[in-house]
Amino acid sequence: MRVVTAVRGAQVRCHAAVAVGSGTEFKRPERIARVKGTDGGASRVGEELELRGWVRSVRTQKGMAFIDLNDGSSISGMQAVVSESSVAAWAAVDSGSVSTGAAVAVRGKLVASPGGKQAAELSVENLELIGAADPETYPLQKKRHTLEYLRSIAHLRPRTNTIGAVSRVRNQLAYATHKFFQENGFLYANTPIITASDCEGAGEQFQVTTLLNGLDQAASVTPETIAEAEAKVKVQGEAVKALKEAVKGGNATKEEVEQAVSKLLALKADVEALNGAGSMTSLPKNKDGSIDYTQDFFGKRAYLTVSGQLNGEIMACAVNDIYTFGPTFRAENSNTSRHLAEFWMVEPELAFADLNDDMDCAEAYLKYCLNHVLEHCDEDLAFFEKNISKDNLRERLRNVASSEFVRITYTEAVDYVKSAKKKFEFPIEWGSDLQSEHERYISEEVFKDRPVIVRDYPKDIKAFYMRLNDDNKTVAAMDVLVPRVGELMGGSQREERLDVLERRIEEVGLEKEAYWWYLDLRRYGSQPHAGFGLGFERLVQYVTGVENIRDAIPFPRYPGSAEF
Ligand code: 4AD
Ligand code: MG
Repeated sequence: MRVVTAVRGAQVRCHAAVAVGSGTEFKRPERIARVKGTDGGASRVGEELELRGWVRSVRTQKGMAFIDLNDGSSISGMQAVVSESSVAAWAAVDSGSVSTGAAVAVRGKLVASPGGKQAAELSVENLELIGAADPETYPLQKKRHTLEYLRSIAHLRPRTNTIGAVSRVRNQLAYATHKFFQENGFLYANTPIITASDCEGAGEQFQVTTLLNGLDQAASVTPETIAEAEAKVKVQGEAVKALKEAVKGGNATKEEVEQAVSKLLALKADVEALNGAGSMTSLPKNKDGSIDYTQDFFGKRAYLTVSGQLNGEIMACAVNDIYTFGPTFRAENSNTSRHLAEFWMVEPELAFADLNDDMDCAEAYLKYCLNHVLEHCDEDLAFFEKNISKDNLRERLRNVASSEFVRITYTEAVDYVKSAKKKFEFPIEWGSDLQSEHERYISEEVFKDRPVIVRDYPKDIKAFYMRLNDDNKTVAAMDVLVPRVGELMGGSQREERLDVLERRIEEVGLEKEAYWWYLDLRRYGSQPHAGFGLGFERLVQYVTGVENIRDAIPFPRYPGSAEF
């Protein structure tokens, strides 16, 4: 069945068939990437097509116009050629309205491209301008913009080669993530975004509260606003009185009185609300002066989650292996190229598993992702290779996907750093955390661009939930370090022994009572389990080679920035 779709009033034939209501034949219009396939479109030459997208550039030459059309499905787009003989289309081009940034629909025949730059191009018969873009003010010019500038126009930057390609690779990595875990029998679980516990214990949480809402209202209530509202009540009161008199004389109806009374009641309610808001001029306090959070929305302090792990563990203690994939938030005031305030984390939790199972899972998952993008994002990766990483990006990724990861202990890692010939900004001693420069040195220089898994960190620099090793000094933690990025994943085997966990919670100064439910998992049917968290933007960074993590997510959140 062929259907007709209306675009801006014009009737345009849609390439695809749609059976209304059945769902089974749902198909969206043709996209450039699909037309080009693996042979640049050569095998589809001769077909009549309609394409919609945005104009990247227009070049005119001897009665011909060459439109570089991009619909976001691939980096290279489609050349749409308009000749003077297509009178209406030519007129549109000639008028200058088909300019960089404009949204257009073009229809015509796919022909072999004589230029040799591309296998096929669209010989345009019809062109419809769907949305113009004033060339005088359109912020994306043909010239290359810096990534810093592009961040300031994040509403338009997905139209650029770099951010468009990042978005497609990101999409494929998300797809690969679900595929990998689903194929291995993991259940996708959603964990809460608002939480009362600090999983990592690092005190980097954003607080969630409605206590300030009242204060904001109070600040806007002045004696003048209350007096104004009271004056309105008075005026309406007089009006009601007058209407009642008028009813007696037969000059007004009962309905009119009723209407006036309900308006009066509404105005009175306004005054009451203003008085109520105005009286809340400070945060509710306890006797000792601390803030009384029992009056807050959740009846206790609440935060945006830094990790879904603790809830992930609950699920893995019930339905076996799970994974979460959701947003996490950290109020670290660090302006580095590897930290965001809002980032996405993939967190598998393996039931009946130890640290070795955890490391095996991390390695297999990362390799799966790399193979997936190598297979499905070749054109975009070639772009990154040429313009962003400026090296042998794809070969590097291929090597990583096909060789074993290095596995060393923290103690060995410290020894490597200490015996390095190069100077580091931060010194290292056993017991201090590895800095990013140390992590990169180990994976880039010591092990020549290979991912390295470091395990068994000192317990004092890791979170309370990690399983204590027999030496009583280290925990069964692991970090996966990759070249250029440093820490890509962090995980551990979890402490499944109730008494040890209780001791650890006390040691690090957390309130045991708040973790009653987490401890219950160790009381009832406890089992060794393990998991890790992968920073999704760091994965995107690693795969694409983009220098700054702010370019690995369409709308980055970092200190001072939440515009888009
Ligand atoms: O090492 P982290 O803090 O581990 C956890 O949160 C565990 N609860 C995970 C688990 O075992 N389920 O964070 C995990 C990963 C890091 O390795 C890093 O890749 C990323 O999250 N990450 C960040 N990414 C961007 N911006 C930040 N501010 C990040 N902080 C951590
Ligand atoms: Mg970590």
